[in-house]
Amino acid sequence: MSTTPNTAAPAVVVEGVIDLDLPGHTISRHVYGHFAEHLGRCIYGGFYVGEDSPIPNEGGIRLDVVEALRALDIPNLRWPGGCFADDYHWKHGIGPRDQRPRMVNSHWGDVVEDNSFGTHEFMALCELLGTEPYISANVGSGTVEETSDWVQYLTRGDDSPMADLRRANGRDEPWKVTYWGLGNEPWGCGGNMSAEAYAALARQFATYSRDMGDNKLYRIAAGATNADYRWTEVLMKALGRALGDGEVLGHGNSSFQAISFHCYTVAGPWERKGSATDFDTDEYYAVMAQAQRIEGVLAGHAKVMDAYDPDKRVGLVLDEWGTWFDVEPGTNPGFLFQQNALRDALVASVHFDGFHRHADRLVMANIAQTVNVLQAMILTDEDSGALVLTPSYHVFEMNKGHQDAAHLPVHLRGAAPTRTVAGVVGIGGHVPDRSDVELTTVSVSASTKDGAALVSLTNLDAEAPVTVRLDLRGVAVGELTARLLTADAPQAHNTPQQDDAVAPRAFDGARVEDGVLVVELPAHSFATVSLPLV
Ligand code: AHR
Repeated sequence: MSTTPNTAAPAVVVEGVIDLDLPGHTISRHVYGHFAEHLGRCIYGGFYVGEDSPIPNEGGIRLDVVEALRALDIPNLRWPGGCFADDYHWKHGIGPRDQRPRMVNSHWGDVVEDNSFGTHEFMALCELLGTEPYISANVGSGTVEETSDWVQYLTRGDDSPMADLRRANGRDEPWKVTYWGLGNEPWGCGGNMSAEAYAALARQFATYSRDMGDNKLYRIAAGATNADYRWTEVLMKALGRALGDGEVLGHGNSSFQAISFHCYTVAGPWERKGSATDFDTDEYYAVMAQAQRIEGVLAGHAKVMDAYDPDKRVGLVLDEWGTWFDVEPGTNPGFLFQQNALRDALVASVHFDGFHRHADRLVMANIAQTVNVLQAMILTDEDSGALVLTPSYHVFEMNKGHQDAAHLPVHLRGAAPTRTVAGVVGIGGHVPDRSDVELTTVSVSASTKDGAALVSLTNLDAEAPVTVRLDLRGVAVGELTARLLTADAPQAHNTPQQDDAVAPRAFDGARVEDGVLVVELPAHSFATVSLPLV
């Protein structure tokens, strides 16, 4: 594998325009969503340490993790999986903890799960985080009755069997639950089904996942892997009658309101995904080439959906995304624990630029996963319990102003700088599909909310700085504030010994000159610029 810069100028300048007075679609805050599975040390040791732990906790939930995540304004948290969701029987996770049945977590390390973190603990976590729950029901090995009962247990307020059971377990009032997943990866760990078989099941489970009183469910059918657009098409066809009749999608009928898909950044081959921190420049670019493909995959699913639903009433949900590298040496291969470098942060910022542009269809996205698994926001040390914020965490924090903001298209003038990345494996780490990828090394997106504009800029070039000049049209701007996330090398990462090796700093490389925003981005860096509109 090799990479070749196609623009060999010492001082690369990228020019463009932002029309500050022409906002477009809303960027749902839910594209900044999260994911927590019973996998490795995500729940146990990550979110949850138990009430007897010396680590400060509330009901067993780590308070330092809660505090760190509250700063991200996380909009939703998906649980309990992932592949685990289709093995999970929720009734084993309620009632006195010492009486809960145990189970084998056959997907992740074959460890014994004691069900001490269950429905009440998850809902308490969501309340502490101030976030909305997104629950994945068990379609693969569970029953329709089990799913129906779970909805009632969570959301029914009257004197009925499931509501009474909830009260007996200490919770009087029903919870509000909107986001309801109908299984997970049914083409694989969720049941090895065909798209047609799953589409029929999804309608069946949707039928019995009923709205209780004022609680309206937003049912999300489990979708494709990567660029499997056929899967999306089969699900859209399964919605046909609901769409054709013009009925309001979803409430109380057999339809679902959204279709998900999963797309990880894997620079493969799958058997050798590479190290999260020990990589060379070619591997750096291979990962970036994979990351930038997300935009084409989003557009592909959106195009299929547009053909059936031009009014965009059905949402697209990317409920698992992020980098997937080899596990850290010496750790359980089934626990998917990887470090997180500046490179991961740039993968995240590129994804968010794509999410912002496609937010007219993309209603939710969930990083996999929040703590200690894959592209995590937080890593906790197994021995000392120390908590580290990853470079990826900082991108979520720096970008949070885009949540529920109006997208501002950024029009680049002329071609952005590119680099040919040769021999990149197919999406998801598929080796036979090697190809050369034209990586655009500058990525920019913008939005406006509450009388300000937020511009996010990424320079993916590993070695060369770039100057971005954007004409700001339509509205005058006040004094800007800017922040920069970078380090000496893309391999830089945070550890308990040095927890701020990669952290945002105030940035003096951005200014407004005669109505032009000028940003001088160092190599391998991410910046945000906040502009008050006056
Ligand atoms: O996030 C890890 C796993 O990746 C999930 O459990 C599964 O849905 C996907 O294959």
